Amino acid sequence: MARPVLRTKRIELRPMRPKHLPLLHELDSDPAVMRHLLGRARTPQEIDDFWGPRCAETRADTAGLGWWVGFEGDEFLGWWDLGRSDSDPDSDPRVDETEIGWRVVRRRWRQGLASEGARALLAHGFDTVGLRRIWAETLAVNAGSRGVMRAIGMRHVRTEHRQRHEPLPGAEEGDVIYEITRAQWRSRHTG
Ligand SMILES: CC(C)(COP(=O)(O)OP(=O)(O)OC[C@H]1O[C@@H](n2cnc3c(N)ncnc32)[C@H](O)[C@@H]1OP(=O)(O)O)[C@@H](O)C(=O)NCCC(=O)NCCS
Repeated sequence: MARPVLRTKRIELRPMRPKHLPLLHELDSDPAVMRHLLGRARTPQEIDDFWGPRCAETRADTAGLGWWVGFEGDEFLGWWDLGRSDSDPDSDPRVDETEIGWRVVRRRWRQGLASEGARALLAHGFDTVGLRRIWAETLAVNAGSRGVMRAIGMRHVRTEHRQRHEPLPGAEEGDVIYEITRAQWRSRHTG
């Protein structure tokens, strides 16, 4: 199953491809967007090195997973992902649990977009792909990302304290892991 195009009220989520690389430059060159991820903007070279291979990935497609870019009309909104990357040595597209993530352009923050796209990915993951559990993680201090996790019905399951090669502001408060199971998701949607 190749990653499908997914649609919500406002967002069209399209499989990420190499032609989207310039949009990822726009996103990751904003230091506010990268604040809790790197503590600074990515350089153009870092963006090419990180996103180039991911735009070209197709292995996760065998499970209908991977990276999507979101648009409202012609306007680029950000990306959402469901599933590990090919470059992750633990990646196994056959497993029935996986990670979800999101990143939205700064001018469109606080408009419910990250949650709206993420809900579409949860529905896809649980109903179409048949996943059993989806988790997300972020720095404890990343209130925006935690807000998305809460808004889509995920619950905090643990906080971890990790060693980092480079210092990241707020990392001393740890990384939080949230999750939602298919049963929890279905009970929210069947009332
Ligand atoms: C995190 C991010 C994706 C949130 O996107 P968004 O479209 O603004 O999120 P939403 O509008 O869907 O907000 C969802 C909830 O979080 C809350 N929220 C969003 N940003 C917040 C912030 N900075 N501080 C506190 N709460 C916040 C919203 O009020 C909303 O809560 P509600 O459901 O009670 O109304 C966006 O800020 C971003 O791209 N940040 C940089 C990249 C990043 O940190 N990605 C996650 C890495 S793990």
